[in-house]
Amino acid sequence: MGTERGELHVAIVMDGNGRWAEAHGCARTAGHEAGVEAALRVIESAPGCGIDALSLYAFSSDNWQRPASEVHALMGLAARFLREQAARAVESGVRLEVIGRRDRLPAPVRHAIAFAERATQGGRRLRVRVALDYSARDAILRAARRLPATVATHESFGALLASVDRGTPVGPVDLFIRTGGERRLSDFLLWESAYAELYFVDMPWPEFGAVDLAEAVAWFRGRSRRFGGLVPRRAHPA
Ligand code: IPE
Ligand code: IPE
Ligand code: MG
Repeated sequence: MGTERGELHVAIVMDGNGRWAEAHGCARTAGHEAGVEAALRVIESAPGCGIDALSLYAFSSDNWQRPASEVHALMGLAARFLREQAARAVESGVRLEVIGRRDRLPAPVRHAIAFAERATQGGRRLRVRVALDYSARDAILRAARRLPATVATHESFGALLASVDRGTPVGPVDLFIRTGGERRLSDFLLWESAYAELYFVDMPWPEFGAVDLAEAVAWFRGRSRRFGGLVPRRAHPA
């Protein structure tokens, strides 16, 4: 079983852009630009790997601490990505969604989100959830503050959690990938990843491609997932 709906949900911490750029003698922003290209490769190859939902960590709430110039460049890339990719997403059946806080994002980014979400809402082949100004702990806090007594199961709290970040309901993360060599979660999808298989690669994000995604998914399919019991449950209908 993947998500409750039998869908395969993969989360990716796209890390290592800055170090990749520095290693190539470029500005960190060049790494972020190359990172967008890597994201496009992964989005394109995801349906072929059997992935239904892809959650991409693009900007964490803690990333506001970075220099204003880098934050500005990242926001510009996010707006451009959403505006430019909407048409391609419609063509390829991709639904674009943005999760995270919206109130602190610059207006052009908010407008690009509204545009891309509206344009692609009919996409059924793949859901791409771009996390912008995202903090899992912050989302859990906001959901807890709104908690009605009727929300008493992990599933219903999960749905509430998705809604505080403006996302539509999504099942738990099955496979959690982080590039860039660090072995940590950095506040991404903490609740949703309770039973996620964790996959860490040293490769920086700009070098990640379709073959690497397929390798990660193949590794995932070989895992024995027991969810606390003794009997392995199928990770995902092949
Ligand atoms: C990930 O790459 C992208 C963002 C966090 C926005 P980094 O910018 O963290 O790259 P490194 O980890 O410094 O190499
Ligand atoms: C996590 O990477 C956030 C994104 C990839 C968007 P960071 O580079 O911000 O995480 P830390 O600082 O290494 O934990
Ligand atoms: Mg980093």
